[in-house]
Amino acid sequence: MQNLLKNLENLLQQDQSFISDGTILKNAVVEAALNMEPRLLELLMQSDTIKAHFFTEVAGALVFDKVKFQDFVSNKAFLPDSYTAFKNRIGLTGESGDYLSQSREVVLAWPYKDCVLEGGMTKEDRKRDEVFWNTTLAPDDITRLFEPKVLTGWERWDAEAVEAGKAKPVGEVSDDDNLLIKGNNLLALHSLKKRYAGKVKLIYIDPPYNTGGDGFRYNDRFNHSGWLTFMLSRLEIARELLTHDGAIFITLDETETHYCKVLGDEVFGRENFVAHIAWQKRTSPDNRVVLGDGFDNILVFARTVGTTKRENGTYKTVFEEKANRLPLTEKQRAEYSNRDNDKNGDWVHRDFTAQNKKKNGVLGRPDQIYKIVSPSGDEHWPPEGRCWGATEPEYWKLFNDGRIWFGAKGTNAPRKKLYLKEEKGIQSWTWWPHSEAGTNEQAKKELQSHIGADAASDFTPKPEKLIERMLHIGTNKGDIVLDFFVGSGTTAAVAHKMGRRWLAIEQMDYIQYVTKRRMHNVVNGEQGGVSEDVKWPGGGSFVYAELAASNAAFADRIETAPDIATLQTIHADIQATGYLRYDVSNKAFDTDDFAALPVGDAKRVLMDSLDANHLYVNLGSLGDADFDIPEADMRATRSFYGIEP
Ligand SMILES: C[S@@+](CC[C@H](N)C(=O)[O-])C[C@H]1O[C@@H](n2cnc3c(N)ncnc32)[C@H](O)[C@@H]1O
Repeated sequence: MQNLLKNLENLLQQDQSFISDGTILKNAVVEAALNMEPRLLELLMQSDTIKAHFFTEVAGALVFDKVKFQDFVSNKAFLPDSYTAFKNRIGLTGESGDYLSQSREVVLAWPYKDCVLEGGMTKEDRKRDEVFWNTTLAPDDITRLFEPKVLTGWERWDAEAVEAGKAKPVGEVSDDDNLLIKGNNLLALHSLKKRYAGKVKLIYIDPPYNTGGDGFRYNDRFNHSGWLTFMLSRLEIARELLTHDGAIFITLDETETHYCKVLGDEVFGRENFVAHIAWQKRTSPDNRVVLGDGFDNILVFARTVGTTKRENGTYKTVFEEKANRLPLTEKQRAEYSNRDNDKNGDWVHRDFTAQNKKKNGVLGRPDQIYKIVSPSGDEHWPPEGRCWGATEPEYWKLFNDGRIWFGAKGTNAPRKKLYLKEEKGIQSWTWWPHSEAGTNEQAKKELQSHIGADAASDFTPKPEKLIERMLHIGTNKGDIVLDFFVGSGTTAAVAHKMGRRWLAIEQMDYIQYVTKRRMHNVVNGEQGGVSEDVKWPGGGSFVYAELAASNAAFADRIETAPDIATLQTIHADIQATGYLRYDVSNKAFDTDDFAALPVGDAKRVLMDSLDANHLYVNLGSLGDADFDIPEADMRATRSFYGIEP
């Protein structure tokens, strides 16, 4: 056994993609084995002992036993990785293998990328990305996690406050207030529940796509099941917030769309699936890639099934029954004109015939087949297999109202006029071209106008036109719109400009200098994005607040700690004033073993040891002197939750 271990270690040392800083990356090896990567298999075949152990000959071919190999590599005796070894030592055990639908686990994603890409980081450094800040909590560990939280840092921003550069105090929170909240969205959503359950008309979310991309400032590197668990608990609470006629729109790329459709079916019910929209996010293909992606997916799920039967026997959702048509595009509007000085204004002409099928050899609708004489005296009959679009008395009514058009010379077959002022709009469909819904590039430019090109290059905003389209279809003035992955604030900006009320959540510090700043500009009447479309004059206000940090403040310190000594100090501080998990053995932190851990592993251990139930201050501790919540924040928090002072 020992020989086999040593042998394998030596072989793996030969391939730089499995090594970082001289250490073998165990996860990379297992992943390569599961994917049957030729470079790994060739390496393994170099040793007869290894070959004999993990390969079997079948009909002259060597077959690799990847399960046996995975078990072997995952064995503690093989390169016991310091993180797992230490984690086991202090009493933290692994994740369950339950089915997602049965497991009541919750993933709390920390607001950090796994490996922050800083200037000067080498390619080799980037490979050391095995630190995950996603904590998966087992059901037994969740005790006070979902209790409502105290909110602090309350600020009210209206045009006057923006002008003065100084927020106004909040005092009371009213139903008309728009809210921008900083904090973990799962916990913030649970805090919104009391006030907003059943009240949100439309939710739009743009969650991490789980692409494994490195360019993001937040965590976009979940493993697949972690991502699903992360989404599950958020979709469940999101559903509770929706109105009876509400719906949620979710943008994703091909990485997780299909899985999220299944997850959504489970949470909302298959009968509440409304549509899968393709949004053309760019105008031309990426030359560097074969079959590069040209669109993102938007999944739409409604809250409730309605009573309108579709042709296939299923029922429309209440959301669909009430959905709005889209306004005409510029091009469609330009087709309307008034060539005959019609008192009803601009019009277009449309076919005045209808299909007329034979039944049992006899033409139907005999009262819609008659002679029409045009002003020039020409006689017209409906073409073969068709009839006129109305009965004769109805036709004469239309004619007398000036609604029938026989062409400029009065010689043509009759056509019916449709007036612009009576146009109800266009029925939406699932193809949203860039000309109508904007592109990623336009979105970047929109954000640049708020924070400059340099800062905007770190973000992946959505175009305002895309959000405008969703809000047109799914909401009316005064309705509440929610986005709990609000990022740079596109949804809040568009909802504000369109006269909707809005709730927005973002965890990252950039909420201050990106999201809030953008909303200041909106209140100030900025004219970018959809402002011109909706004739935005500026105005309105919003309220900003943060989930009051308890253990979350320690998480921030752990993230930026440069060395073990600092982490040891943080551990001592947590013991004194924070909350460690009850099952964590404290003594182990003072040992040489902890001191010998690589800093990344030590951070992860300490992060995992924090009791997530106390990331933020629970409402029950509002008056607790330990937390020192300012009086004004206590008052606003009470008003928010409708608690008598
Ligand atoms: C793709 S971006 C959204 C971009 C946004 N649509 C826009 O137009 O700017 C996703 C955002 O979700 C935030 N986020 C991810 N996980 C979160 C969590 N657990 N709680 C709160 N925000 C989270 C990220 O910080 C990021 O800003």
